[in-house]
Amino acid sequence: MSDSRMQEPRDAEAYIAPVPRVTIQAFCERQDTASAIAAAASDRRMLKAHVKLHMGGAPAAVEAFRDAPTPNVIVLETNGGREALIRHLDELAEFCDAGTKVIVVGTHNDILLYRELISRGVSDYVVAPVTPMMFVQSVSSLYGDGSGKSLGRVIAVTGVKGGVGSSTIAHNLAFLVARNFDTPTVLVDLDMAFGTAALNFNQDPTNSVADAVSANGLDASLVDRLLARCTDRLSLLAAPAMLDRVYDPSEETFDGLIDILRASTPMVFLDMPTSWTAWSRRMLIAADEIVLVATPDLACLRNTKNMYDVLRAARPNDAAPRVILNMTGVPKRTEISTADFTKAIETMPMCSIPFDPKVFGTAANNGQMLAEISDAGKITDVLFEVARTLTGRAESKPAKKLSILAPFTTLLSRKKAS
Ligand SMILES: Nc1ncnc2c1ncn2[C@@H]1O[C@H](COP(=O)(O)OP(=O)(O)OP(=O)(O)O)[C@@H](O)[C@H]1O
Ligand SMILES: [Mg+2]
Repeated sequence: MSDSRMQEPRDAEAYIAPVPRVTIQAFCERQDTASAIAAAASDRRMLKAHVKLHMGGAPAAVEAFRDAPTPNVIVLETNGGREALIRHLDELAEFCDAGTKVIVVGTHNDILLYRELISRGVSDYVVAPVTPMMFVQSVSSLYGDGSGKSLGRVIAVTGVKGGVGSSTIAHNLAFLVARNFDTPTVLVDLDMAFGTAALNFNQDPTNSVADAVSANGLDASLVDRLLARCTDRLSLLAAPAMLDRVYDPSEETFDGLIDILRASTPMVFLDMPTSWTAWSRRMLIAADEIVLVATPDLACLRNTKNMYDVLRAARPNDAAPRVILNMTGVPKRTEISTADFTKAIETMPMCSIPFDPKVFGTAANNGQMLAEISDAGKITDVLFEVARTLTGRAESKPAKKLSILAPFTTLLSRKKAS
């Protein structure tokens, strides 16, 4: 499939950071504001926030908190004038716990009122009508630096069936983003028992993602020490890939790790095992981008449609999952055409990657990336376009031309690094 058929790049500027584990109580006056906040509460960026809705506006808030502790965020909607609002804010200030932030929703797009409210300690002023994403953005901007730009983008790559090449694609995308965009990138192999990232990068790391999630007091410096350096810009948190114990993560097992990575690394790739468990579903829904890898057969078609529909419905305010068709054109194998696949899943795959056992086999057996293999130029170009779309990058640094000895020198330098 030609590059011109790639899906539109996402708007990198529109990035909104996920909201941390905070409690929010909203006191609305308008029904449409309450509906927008209810919709915002189910957005994936609010997964950890706990939102409670009330009607009655600012007076109801004053009543509610007269004898009760205040949450992390109070949202007050007011249809009344400036004086009534200021009076209610002053009353509320008497009961507000230190650290409680206040967002005011009002009807006047008035900069003087905005300034006055901010000077009285209000954190944000939002003008009605409120949309769900306006609300998510407002809460998100209360935490972090507000721009969200310093925070990492999480890209989850999963096969819709086992063995379709999703790990290979995830590893190569992470490699290309780190190398061609000069972007610090972490690849996390979440296929705990059978992950192949360490093999594919010719690494033998002593630490794994299991060490990260079982560590007491996990923080950025500990995560950094657990990473294996694959290249200048690419680090790996490998899977334990040992069968001496079983791994049965709970729904929230990886939350803390992902939060730390998101806060410290511009690009995080998750190599997901093909599974549909509470934790894997949560990770997919919470990712900034989802890539579904499928081969052109009936089982993949059904699974792609199911996963696409469920994930899309769970993320109404996000880009739809991207679909990659892999291993097309296997000789003598009947396959579903890209056109029929597109029709059935009602979305165009972002690219299709041909079956090429020589190139992929060489890369897998040598512990190399496709970009390090001669003859892989076309496939690397396609993956590079995918990387560009996923990262929202318009321009790239031209990749350094690799010499004939590059595979060997790269292997040597990797060995040194590890
Ligand atoms: N387009 C392709 N042509 C030929 N071989 C491929 C292609 N894509 C991937 N492969 C090979 O298919 C094998 C399986 O790939 P990979 O481990 O990435 O799949 P997976 O979907 O992650 O599997 P699992 O379900 O085990 O996690 C690997 O040997 C890989 O080199
Ligand atoms: Mg895999």
